[in-house]
Amino acid sequence: GKGSYDHYMLKEIHNQPTSLANTVEGRIEDDGVSLTELDTFDGVTDVQFVACGTSYHAALYGARLLNAAGVRARAFRASEYGTADPITDETLVVAVTQSGETADTLGALERAEAEGARTVAVTNVQGSTVSREADETLLVRAGPEIGVAATKTFSSQVAALCLLGHRIGEDVTGDLPWDDPTTFFESLRSLPENVREVLDGDRAHELADRYLGSEAFFFIGRGLGYSVAVEGALKFKEITYEHAEGFASGELKHGPLALVTPQTPVFAVFTGTDDQKTLTNAKEAQTRGAPIVAVAPEGHPAVDAADAHLPIPDTDPALAGLLANVQLQLVSYHTANLLGRSIDKPRNLAKSVTVE
Ligand code: M6R
Repeated sequence: GKGSYDHYMLKEIHNQPTSLANTVEGRIEDDGVSLTELDTFDGVTDVQFVACGTSYHAALYGARLLNAAGVRARAFRASEYGTADPITDETLVVAVTQSGETADTLGALERAEAEGARTVAVTNVQGSTVSREADETLLVRAGPEIGVAATKTFSSQVAALCLLGHRIGEDVTGDLPWDDPTTFFESLRSLPENVREVLDGDRAHELADRYLGSEAFFFIGRGLGYSVAVEGALKFKEITYEHAEGFASGELKHGPLALVTPQTPVFAVFTGTDDQKTLTNAKEAQTRGAPIVAVAPEGHPAVDAADAHLPIPDTDPALAGLLANVQLQLVSYHTANLLGRSIDKPRNLAKSVTVE
């Protein structure tokens, strides 16, 4: 049951320190990764991620981590995969799906297998269709998720894709997605306590209240922060039914800025990739009257410039986005709650989408 929580979504948000600990349990040792369920990736030339919705946003995160390790990698929306780049037998296709039953993702996997790719499923459900169809499976181990909105499964997918990114980097290029593995592993071990710090300091309720009734809600970020911006916006629209969009920070001035008014708060995610540029982009919106909410560590230059601040603990840049996303989960939840929405079962949506 929901225990003392009003909604499964809130319970699942608060379960993240535990679910993340489960995801990494037994898979990190000293400064290395142990994923014995997966064969070596030696010989892989490129990686294609296929996924939908929130899992697609985790896949964007994963692809960018691999790029940082010098590996050619790209994330595809599974429903658009038919028109994608060619596959060779040295292509690794990674299907990311919480449920393991999403028809679009299974369709993309089928195409990949028909064309001879090696396939890995990253899923939360042991024995799901995806894990039966793919060559190999990496379980994210977030535990069952009841709320239609994906929360703890996204965090665990990101953590699992960090581990996978480490292994693929080691095997394919010999490079890692992080500049300093020691700092990365320290941050990975501190992830549960860092998430707890965000949850304990929940200030999102006050912000949700302040911006209630706005015309639209925008989310911007770059690099890993871009995946978080689009995920923040998806969660927001899914459970609040309000208009929300996520943009690459640098794209704002190429069109979306025309939408910005004092009635459109902008949540700017700072994860350490060209933050100075994102701050400039946020200020462009602020000049048009939009309130800026900086999702950033204490002491970050964005904090003084912004109208409001959602703090994240200091951590490795690879994991800052995960923590920022927890703040955005809380903003969505509190806004939906103030609006009296059907948070665990939003209108028109199903937990598992088994039609194409
Ligand atoms: O089970 P999957 O991860 O394959 O589901 C994919 C999407 O349908 C899912 O992430 C959806 O976008 C969520 N309800 C968003 O919160």
